[in-house]
Amino acid sequence: MPVDLLFIGGALYACGIDGHLKAFLKALKKEDVKRAAVFFTSWISRHALSLIKSSLTEAGIPVAEESFYSKGRPDGRQLQEVEAFTKKLL
Ligand SMILES: Cc1cc2nc3c(=O)[nH]c(=O)nc-3n(C[C@H](O)[C@H](O)[C@H](O)COP(=O)(O)O)c2cc1C
Repeated sequence: MPVDLLFIGGALYACGIDGHLKAFLKALKKEDVKRAAVFFTSWISRHALSLIKSSLTEAGIPVAEESFYSKGRPDGRQLQEVEAFTKKLL
């Protein structure tokens, strides 16, 4: 039974995403997930978004237009924002 909405994301390290996340994305099939929403963190670059999005798209998984970005680990205010982001998409 597919997941209705998968929230998936991670950070950027030396211009790439973590190997575990990469492997997880590679293993995902469109039969597993109806729709995905992406969150990501970094110091500066927003490249993680396109890396994660392209992997999902290649697998044929529709990706929500909206994504969530945090510069570094989310703090109190950003945690409220991420809550609003998830509620909007659910
Ligand atoms: C080893 C390392 C490499 C990183 N490389 C980049 C990078 O190339 N570009 C960038 O914008 N941020 C980079 N960052 C910042 C991380 O993406 C950011 O701190 C992220 O929030 C880390 O999440 P974590 O604390 O959950 O691991 C790097 C951080 C570390 C520790």
